[in-house]
Amino acid sequence: MLGSAIDVKINELTESNRQLKRKIFDLYTIFEISRNFNSVLNYQILVDSFLLTSLGQVGAASSALYLPHEKNDHEFKLAKSKGLLHNQVLEENLLLGDSLSEQLTHSAKPISILEFLGLLGDGKKFATLELFSKGLLFPLIIKSELKGLLIIGGKVTGDKFAPDDIEFLSILANQFVVALENARLYESEKNALEELRLTQRQLVVTERQAAIGELSAKIAHEVNNPLSIISNYLRLTSRSINDTDKALEHLDVVGQEFKRITRIVRQLLDFHRPQVMEKSKILIDQVIDDILGLIEWQLNENHITIVKDIAADLPFIQGASEQLKQVFLNLVINAKDFMVGGGTLTIRAYQRKNDIVIIFSDTGSGIPKENLSRIFEPFFTTKEAGKGTGLGLSVCFGIIKEHNGRISAVNNSAGGAAFEIILPVYIADIK
Ligand SMILES: Nc1ncnc2c1ncn2[C@@H]1O[C@H](COP(=O)(O)OP(=O)(O)O)[C@@H](O)[C@H]1O
Ligand SMILES: [Mg+2]
Repeated sequence: MLGSAIDVKINELTESNRQLKRKIFDLYTIFEISRNFNSVLNYQILVDSFLLTSLGQVGAASSALYLPHEKNDHEFKLAKSKGLLHNQVLEENLLLGDSLSEQLTHSAKPISILEFLGLLGDGKKFATLELFSKGLLFPLIIKSELKGLLIIGGKVTGDKFAPDDIEFLSILANQFVVALENARLYESEKNALEELRLTQRQLVVTERQAAIGELSAKIAHEVNNPLSIISNYLRLTSRSINDTDKALEHLDVVGQEFKRITRIVRQLLDFHRPQVMEKSKILIDQVIDDILGLIEWQLNENHITIVKDIAADLPFIQGASEQLKQVFLNLVINAKDFMVGGGTLTIRAYQRKNDIVIIFSDTGSGIPKENLSRIFEPFFTTKEAGKGTGLGLSVCFGIIKEHNGRISAVNNSAGGAAFEIILPVYIADIK
C-alpha cells in the first residue's frame, strides 16, 4: 500500500519536475528571444526569426504570418510562411470583417484554424489556410489593435498541442508584436528623415539655382539689347555687299555664330523664367512619342536602342507641350552624347499618387558623384570646349519648375545615369 502510494507521489513529482524544467526552458528561450527581437530593427529578419522560433520550439511543421493590408484595417495578407512548398502558397488575403476582428481582439486568445475558417465563413475557399487545418491561430495584438495573425500548423509528430506549447506561443507572439511595432516605427522614422534630407537638399539646390538664374537672366538681358542692334547691322551689311564678294562668306559665318549667341541667350532666359507658354491638358506619352519621332534616326545612327515602358491610361497633365518636348529632347540628346558607341535608353512613365513620374535611364558613362549637385547649373558641362553649352539641363530645370514639378538625377547601380521628372496630374483628374 505504502510502497505504491510512494510510487504514485514519485511519478507525480517527476512529472511536475519535467513540467517545471520545460517551463524554465521556455522562459529562458523567451527571455533570449525577446532580447534578440528588441535589438532587431530589420523587419524581414524579425519575421524570419519569429516564424522559425515558433516552429522549432513547439515542433510544428509549418507556420505563417499574416499582416495588415496597407489599404484596409481588417484585411490581412500573407507576409511570410515557413515549412510550405512554394506552389502551396497562394496570395489570398484574409478579409475578417468588423465582428471577427473584434472577436479576436477582444478574446486575445488562440483559436483553432478549423474554427477560424468557419468564422471566415460563407463557404469561401482559403487554400493556403486549409494546409494548416490541424493548427492554431494566434491573434497578434498591441494596444487593443489586431496587428497580425500567426498561424501554426499541426505538430510534426501528429500530437495535439500541449497547454505549455500554447502558452509559449502566446507569450512569443506578444513579444514579437511589440518588436514588430518598434521596427515599423523605426522604419517610418527613417523614411521621414530620408525624405526631409531629400527636401533639404532639393531646397539648397533650388535656392542656388534661383541665385544663379537671377544673375544669368540679368546678363542675358544686357546682352540681348546689343544683340538686336548687331542683328540689324548684319542685315544691312549683307544687303550692301555684292553676291560675289568673299566678305559675304565671312558674313555668313558671323551670322551663324550670331545665331548661336542668340540661342544661348534665349536658353539663359528660359532657365530663369521660361517664356510663358499656354498650358493645356496634355498626355505625356504623346509628347514622348513626338520627340522620339524627331530624333529616331539620330539614335539609330548612334546604335541606341529605345525601350519604352509607359503605363497605359496615364492621366493628363497641365503643361506646355512645346516646352516639355524641349525638356525630353535635351534628356534624350544628353543620353545619346554620354552613351558613346551605343547603348539603351529606357523611358519609363507611371502614376504615383497625384503625380506622373517619368524616368530617362541610360547605360552610358553615368555622372561622377561630385558633379551630381552641379549638373543643373547653367554653363556646367563636362563636354570638351565648343561641344556643350552646359545649358540643356538648366533649361530643363527651369521648365519643370514652371510646371510645379521636380527634376533630379541619380546614377543607376548597374551604371549609367537616370533623370527623374515628377509632374503633377491635371488638377481636375485628381480623384
Ligand atoms: N545622360 C547623362 N549621362 C552622363 N552625364 C550627363 C548626362 N546628362 C547630363 N550629364 C552631365 O551634365 C552636364 C550638363 O548637361 P547639360 O546641361 O545638358 O549641358 P551639356 O550637354 O551642354 O554638357 C553634362 O556635361 C554632363 O556632365
Ligand atoms: Mg546637354
